[in-house]
Parts: sequence; C-alpha cells; structure tokens
Amino acid sequence: MDRILSGIKPTGQLTLGNYIGAIKNFSRVQYDGEPFLFIADLHALTLPIDPEVLRKNSRDVAAYYLAAGLDPKHSTIFLQSDVSTHSELAIILQNYLYMGELSRMTQFKDKSQKMKEEAIGLGLFAYPVLMAADIVLYDAKRIPVGEDQVQHVELARDLVKRFNNRYGEVLTMPRAEVAKVGKRIMSLSDPTKKMSKSEPKGDIYLSDSLEVMRKKIMSAVTDLGHEIKYDPENKPGISNLMTILSSLSGKSFEEIEKEFEGKGYGDFKRAVADAVVKEMEPFKAKYEEIVASGLVDKVLEEGAKKAYDASKVVLTRVQKAVGLYRK
Ligand code: TYM
Repeated sequence: MDRILSGIKPTGQLTLGNYIGAIKNFSRVQYDGEPFLFIADLHALTLPIDPEVLRKNSRDVAAYYLAAGLDPKHSTIFLQSDVSTHSELAIILQNYLYMGELSRMTQFKDKSQKMKEEAIGLGLFAYPVLMAADIVLYDAKRIPVGEDQVQHVELARDLVKRFNNRYGEVLTMPRAEVAKVGKRIMSLSDPTKKMSKSEPKGDIYLSDSLEVMRKKIMSAVTDLGHEIKYDPENKPGISNLMTILSSLSGKSFEEIEKEFEGKGYGDFKRAVADAVVKEMEPFKAKYEEIVASGLVDKVLEEGAKKAYDASKVVLTRVQKAVGLYRK
C-alpha cells in the first residue's frame, strides 16, 4: 500500500477551501493507501502567531480531521512538532536546496512582498525545506494538496532527484495529487483571489455558523449577465460557486449548467448555500462532539508514536547515506 502524506498549517481559521481542497480529499483517499496526516505547527511559526492561538488552532485542525471521517485506527494523525525527526531531517536537507530556487517560490514571494527584508525570518525562506523533509520522511508517494502547494511538492521532487543522484536510491519520489474539481477555491468577495485563512473578507470559515455561511454565499460577488456557465476567465464568480457546488454534490459542471438553464443567480446561489449547509451541518456537529470527547489528545499522542517509528527508519537511512551514522 502506498503511503499518502499531507498536512495543514494551523495559522488561522480553516476555510471551505481547506475543506474541499484538502480535508475532504484526505478522507476520500484514506483507505486507498497508508495515510500520514499532520498539523504543520512548526510551519505556523514562520509568521508571527500568538502562542495560545497556535495551540488552539493545532488541536482544532486535528478535530476537523476526525470530524471529516479520518479514521485514527487507519490514518496516522499527529502534530509535526511532536515528531522530532521532521526537524532533524530538515537540518540535513537544507544543504541540498538552494537560495535561488527557494527565492523563486510563489508563496515566499507573496508572503514576504510587503515585509521589510530585516523582518523576514529565515524560517519563512526555508519553509519548503521543512516541507520537503515532511514529504520524504515517510517514503510517501502520494501527496494530496490544493493547487497552491504543488510548487513546493515539485521542489521536493527536485530535491529527491538531486539527493538520489548523489547518494543512490535513498529517498522515495513523491507526487502531488490535486483534486480534479476544487483544487483552488476562490474568495467569494474577490473570485480572482484564492480563499485563504488570512483573508477574512468573503471567505467561509469552518467555524462560521450555518447562517453566516449561507449569508456569505448569498452575497458572493457574481459576474455580468445572468447565465450559469462554467467559464473561469469571464465568469470567475459563478465558476467558483459552481466548483463549490460540484465538489460537494458530485454533479458535473454540465449537469449544473443544465439544471439552472433559464434560472437566475438567486436560485443558483440558494442551491450552493443549501449544498454547503447540507455538508457542513453534520460535519460541524461531529467536530463539536469530538472536541467535547477529549479524543484529540489521545489520537495525537498515539499518532506521534507511530509517526516517529515510521520516520526514524527514513531519517536513519539518510544519516547513513550522508555519513552521519557511525555503525
Ligand atoms: P495550508 O495550511 O495553507 O493549506 C492546507 C491545504 O489546503 C489547501 N488549500 C486549498 N485548496 C483549495 N482551495 C483553496 N482556496 C485552498 N487553500 C488551501 C492547500 O493546498 C493545502 O493542501 N505548506 C502546507 C502545509 C504542509 C504540507 C506539508 C502539505 C506542510 N508540510 C507536506 C503537504 C505536504 C500549507 O501551508 O498548507
């Protein structure tokens, strides 16, 4: 069974984009392989964050994983910082990724753009090094992510090629897996921008009440005209809502277009809101139940042990290859 690996950074409130592009996808693929799913809390330190907020968000992500149906008996769920091999491997791998390629990463460019150079932490720059360590540490072949993380997975692939050329077949080649529909959910207030944890306007948070979610969808920015048609270039607002509807209902774009032929934006938005509420109502109830049950701590504790044992094997292999291991 191939290993599957992915993570979410607990920096803010998770969005419907994280749900569709990542969490829902994880629960869909979990039984096709052996999943290692973690909370990237070390990555959350790359930009300033309040310690209590980080602590709460981290446990929240774990609770959302479980609420989405991830089965802790099958999927290993853990906190990145609980498993020291991630940091140990990152320190080694930083020597095989270069300043030039790191400075070309879109995420780094976006995040550092408005910052003064003196204020940009080394961790933000080296973010993809730790991420490459996360990825190769479990010999995972499949990395389910949203579109915005593909560039980082590609960099990890370059690293694997480079490392194996030098030391032999030490690392397993990973591959980004992006959902056909829903790989990039856009903001409801500006459908030319990605829905993101740090852009509060027009984004649906998993912590929003069902009413607020409905309201946000009903007031989503739409496009000129009145046709329900998938055309991201000319109709980014409607296309984004169609993507949300399609990924939650399983209906194709053609089916949706047919269903709403001759109907207006109002009817269509109501249908999108209904689909979101239908999906989120049981999910949010499950989340509350899990938070109240105290299950999260137990899952994270057991997950960390399993993750450590699995990752230690790869770390040792790397240490031996580069000459750090004495035996
Ligand atoms: P993060 O926390 O930004 O996002 C978590 C996952 O959600 C996806 N995503 C989206 N998908 C569709 N539409 C959106 N609007 C949207 N916004 C976010 C992301 O693509 C991602 O899959 N660096 C990673 C965390 C990480 C990681 C890893 C992932 C650390 N190490 C190793 C995979 C493998 C991150 O910050 O994701």
